[in-house]
Amino acid sequence: LGTLLLVSQQCDLTGWWENELGSKMRVDAVDSQGNFTGEYHTAVSSTQKPIEPSPLLGSQHLDEDGQCTFGFTVNWKFSDSTAVFAGQCFAGDGGEEVLQTIWLLREKVDSLPSDWKATRTGHNVFTRM
Ligand code: BTN
Repeated sequence: LGTLLLVSQQCDLTGWWENELGSKMRVDAVDSQGNFTGEYHTAVSSTQKPIEPSPLLGSQHLDEDGQCTFGFTVNWKFSDSTAVFAGQCFAGDGGEEVLQTIWLLREKVDSLPSDWKATRTGHNVFTRM
């Protein structure tokens, strides 16, 4: 009979992550409740304005199976928009940490009739830098 080895895995988002667009984010210390702050350095923008690092605020579950779900908000400093990300941590084939996320990017529009076109959505995959 083979031996079943169960290794306890953590999913602490603290550190630097990069997605497939080249965007980078720094997650600061995750507190005992799973709350965290950080800074998002987007590689792309829907605006013409110069990109600036922007604060992020989020929280994660603290499950010990390495597959925690989490969410965070980015308040863009160079844009009127707000982004929210929701995701889950996984181990890739080589054991590396992979964050699978979806996002909503809410743009500011000038009137209620324009509300329908104000939200973009997408998917980003982050790996640890
Ligand atoms: C804006 O365009 O108003 C602000 C920058 C938005 C960047 C978006 S957020 C979702 C997607 N993932 C990234 O890493 N960057 C883009």
